[in-house]
Amino acid sequence: MKYLLDISDLNQNDFFEILDQADELNMQNEAILSKKSIGLIFEKYSTRTRLSFQVGIRQLQGNPIDIKFEELNLQRIETFNDTFKIFGCYLDALVFRTDNHEKLQKALECFNKPIINALSDKSHPCQIISDIFTLREHFKKIDNISICWLGDLNNVLFSLVEAMSFLPKTSLNIFTDENLFNNSKFKKINKASNINFFFDLEQKIIKETDCIMTDVYSSMNDEVKLDKEKILKRFQINDKIMDYTKNECVFMHCLPAKIDSEVTQSVLSSSKSIVLHQAKNRLVAQKGILKWLEI
Ligand code: CP
Ligand code: NVA
Repeated sequence: MKYLLDISDLNQNDFFEILDQADELNMQNEAILSKKSIGLIFEKYSTRTRLSFQVGIRQLQGNPIDIKFEELNLQRIETFNDTFKIFGCYLDALVFRTDNHEKLQKALECFNKPIINALSDKSHPCQIISDIFTLREHFKKIDNISICWLGDLNNVLFSLVEAMSFLPKTSLNIFTDENLFNNSKFKKINKASNINFFFDLEQKIIKETDCIMTDVYSSMNDEVKLDKEKILKRFQINDKIMDYTKNECVFMHCLPAKIDSEVTQSVLSSSKSIVLHQAKNRLVAQKGILKWLEI
């Protein structure tokens, strides 16, 4: 049985198969989810992930079922385990956004059918599959592309770091605060040789990069009590930073953005920003993921 809780649930072949299938389904939809019902459970806010899955499932002729947590007997007397076992009686797959990655693992054991992590405190694999798809589409290649991430060490970055092991010729330079790094799980992970951490801006690296990427300083499941607005302020993506970059460099952000925190409005709406196309590609990538799962 296939599932996608983390990028590390894939191997390199799976990863590229998803990207290629997304490409194909972008040109022509197939009825691969005909007669399949897929539950969508969002314990946290979502705009892009929820909508792109709802529309993507329909485009593949499947039936998306919105499950409202607050309406379940789980809120009253039923256990989490029994709830997910019951889901397995009716549904063929689940898309699940949660505040705690362990719930995804527990849900998988009880549901015993494909589950897609639609974002957790730990990771956001669907976002990164989509973002690598967008980069490959934009630059017509993914080898010899350099990505600079500036800001927080969060779930989206965690999935990007995992994906880098499938992209040995792509480089990832992460600019963040040293104290934040020392108190994060990123200090302990076995990083691939194509990933580097920096605690000060390096103009030379910014000048050569193909992509500047960031995300909010406080994620929805964030429990870090540090004043990240203050300590990450020097990594804000503003016109000054974008002015260092070469003409072909793009700006990416998974959205939603907090304007004037990690990024300014002028960068978000600048000609280098591809955030809207990036968001649009979530639909394309979700379909690649759904096909790969063989639901
Ligand atoms: N990027 C992303 O996952 O957006 P939503 O939180 O709106 O789904
Ligand atoms: N890191 C952000 C991503 C939102 C799509 C969060 O978890 O809130």
